[in-house]
Formats: sequence, structure tokens, C-alpha cells
Amino acid sequence: MILCANFKANKTRQDTRAYMAVVESFVSANGIGDTIIVFPPFTALEHDPRNVLIGVQNAYPVQNGAYTGEIALEQLEEFGIKTILIGHSERRHIIGETQEQITAKFRFFAEHGFAIVYCVGEPLAVREEGNDILMAYIEQQFEGIDLTYSDLIVAYEPVWAIGTGLTPSNSDIELVHSALRSKTDAPLLYGGSVKVDNASTIMALDNVDGILVGSASLSANDFCEMIAQATELQ
Ligand code: 13P
Repeated sequence: MILCANFKANKTRQDTRAYMAVVESFVSANGIGDTIIVFPPFTALEHDPRNVLIGVQNAYPVQNGAYTGEIALEQLEEFGIKTILIGHSERRHIIGETQEQITAKFRFFAEHGFAIVYCVGEPLAVREEGNDILMAYIEQQFEGIDLTYSDLIVAYEPVWAIGTGLTPSNSDIELVHSALRSKTDAPLLYGGSVKVDNASTIMALDNVDGILVGSASLSANDFCEMIAQATELQ
């Protein structure tokens, strides 16, 4: 299983240190073999060797240069970062990233050998149009994306399920994940209101290889509990 914690714009550097200490010691004390990735804010990046991977939630697809307010490859290299989240719905819908920008980012970080957690997912109005429209929408989010990239992880996160406490039914998750499975061999994560209470059920679904957790991952104990649940499933 792959379990990811996306902090978004939450936690300070100090909070993150305390959090990592809890998760790191849980992972090593329990001999956890699952892949655990934490995406803290940029200000909390550290360069310690860890058995929990650290990724970034975003970066600009250049080595360095005149891109005010951006963080580029050179800054990530300083911290040994080789994992990035691309295409998250908050970047698509709040920040306004286009598929073209997302594709450029994907290509650049793939060329530099990053593990890429690539997010797709539909708004509620699209889901209400039925499965064919839903899959056509997701298909567009794969435009320009190399689904055979060897370090790819795909995360299905319905926009309407993010931070709302709502989740698709188990069979709806399986339906989308089986369609995704027919497109790529990459591990498939589900994200959107995953909590301690539903994580185990979701991780047990067909073609679900892990979870991408936002708000519920902010508690180190809750995230560790989800890691424990993943271990129990195996
Ligand atoms: P929530 O778990 O808060 O719904 O967020 C999911 C998410 O966006 C993870 O990337």
C-alpha cells in the first residue's frame, strides 16, 4: 500500500518536525513496509534521511530562474526531494493551473526522475452527468501525461469529496479505479475525505493501492492508525 499525507497550507516547520518524529518512530517500531509519503509545506522541508518519504505539493518546472514566488528544481535538490504532487484539484480549480501547465510540469519532473503522484477527479456537476461523461472528463486530465512513466502514482480524488466528509460509494470508487486500471499499470490511490473510519474499507477495494489523505492526515496519530490498518489488510 501507499499512504500519503497532504498537509496543504497547514502546519509550521516546528509542527511538522513533531509530526514526523511520531510517524517515523511508528514506521520503524512496527517494521512498516508500505510506502509512506508526507507532503508538508515548503517551509517545513528538511534534509534528514528518513524512512518516510517527503514530497512537495508543487514546484515550478525549471532548474532555477526569474520566476517570482516559485520554487524550482535547484531548491528541491538542496533537500533531496524526489517526489512531487501534480494536478491536485486545488491547484487546478483554485489556483487555475491549466492542463497545459500541468503537462509541462509533469514532463519536466519526469525527465528529472521524480516520483509523481498525479491527481485527477471530477467536480460534482460532472459526476451527476453519469459515468461516461465522468470518464471522458478524467480522460482530458490525462492529456499530455505519460501513463507508462515508471515512477507514476495516480490519485483519483473527486473534487466534491475533498474536505467535505462526502465520499463516493465503494462501488463507484471501484468503477472509476477499474477504468483507471485499464489505462495504466501505475499504483492507484483514492483521495477525498479518507478518515480513520473509512480508510480500511477503501484500501480493501479492488484496484485501490493506497490513499491520499488531507485533513485526517494532520493528526499524526490518525495517520499512524491508517498505516496500521494498511498493514492489517496484508
Ligand atoms: P481531504 O482528505 O481533506 O478530503 O483532502 C483530500 C486531498 O485533497 C488530499 O490531496
